Amino acid sequence: MLAAEALEKRFALHDGRIVNAMDGVGFRIEPGQLYTLLGPSGCGKTTTLRSIAGLETPDSGRIAIGDMAVFDSARRLLVPANRRKIGMVFQSYAIWPHMDVYENVAFPLRVSGERVREGDVAARVAKALATVRMEGFERRPATRLSGGQQQRLALARALVMEPRVLLLDEPLSNLDAKLRESMRLELRRIQKSLGITTVYVTHDQTEALAMSDVVAVMENGRIVQQGDPRTIYSRPATRFVAEFIGSTNFVPGRIARAGADALVEIEGGRLRCAVPAGLDTGARVLVSIRPEDIAVRAAGAAAAAGDGNRIAGRVVEQIFLGSLADHVIAAGGAEFHAWCHPAAAFSPGSEVVLEVDPARCIVLPEKT
Ligand SMILES: Nc1ncnc2c1ncn2[C@@H]1O[C@H](COP(=O)(O)OP(=O)(O)OP(=O)(O)O)[C@@H](O)[C@H]1O
Ligand SMILES: [Mg+2]
Repeated sequence: MLAAEALEKRFALHDGRIVNAMDGVGFRIEPGQLYTLLGPSGCGKTTTLRSIAGLETPDSGRIAIGDMAVFDSARRLLVPANRRKIGMVFQSYAIWPHMDVYENVAFPLRVSGERVREGDVAARVAKALATVRMEGFERRPATRLSGGQQQRLALARALVMEPRVLLLDEPLSNLDAKLRESMRLELRRIQKSLGITTVYVTHDQTEALAMSDVVAVMENGRIVQQGDPRTIYSRPATRFVAEFIGSTNFVPGRIARAGADALVEIEGGRLRCAVPAGLDTGARVLVSIRPEDIAVRAAGAAAAAGDGNRIAGRVVEQIFLGSLADHVIAAGGAEFHAWCHPAAAFSPGSEVVLEVDPARCIVLPEKT
């Protein structure tokens, strides 16, 4: 278990301004989980990760790794980084260029206070390299590695101390798109097979959805929502989360009937929204509808069964994206993006009807 409570960190900039890098960050990560901090640049992800590692000292709060408190401002407790049993991969990898692969992986063992015997060093380096599938690369100079191999080496070096917690700061961001995709699967496979509690930092929402047990979305030094990837994606709690993860349409409206089967008045119609929002009648809201949740039908075509929402509209533009066709559709006083299979695309000017399941209409407060 890894837990943090009420972490605060302020930085004073040279022009006198104060940045709240952490503004009450708290979480609880169960053993073996991969927990992702996801958010835009500057939201406080690295500061949080470095605080767990002991490379940054928060102004206040508490951090515990397992049953060991490693930071507690009230008790003036601060366990130094090298005694926290943490393995970390930095965005830059921080590989030593003057050493070969073997010495890079052995490095943490040599500088730790543990006095590991040379035979044990060899065994542990071999095990770490096997974990990341880099056997046979021992004597390769670290400068003669591909991007993916450097990434594996950095991971092997983080694992060689057999840490209790693995911290990964944008470990795949230096790789090209294809390699990133395969490495994230491999990283996840290694993490699961070791059962190691992991905090993963990224600003890439697809990566977060693909890899995580739990995603925590950060904004301005705060965790604004956390949950499993499906919940975060399908039930965003704020406009920021809905916008940051995936693509979405926002339709402005006003709640005409509150409750579990809410009705929202939008320009030229009403939307049924079968998602409880905890907002009162009359409240100004945004209804978030994902582009893949909209079925586009020709005007006059038979409606799907059931009492889903139907909004009449006209296709403004169609953008071919290979695996899908993105349609820009003017409807209900707004412009919607709707994704269809390219074979079922509509040309600009077509009169259409947008059908949306009420369960896919997420009501959000206008201001969050
Ligand atoms: N040593 C520092 N001195 C001053 N400001 C800092 C320092 N470290 C971080 N900050 C500021 O704190 C805020 C959070 O920084 P942090 O590095 O945690 O963001 P991040 O979420 O990791 O961003 P990125 O995705 O760009 O890496 C930013 O506004 C940053 O400029
Ligand atoms: Mg960062």
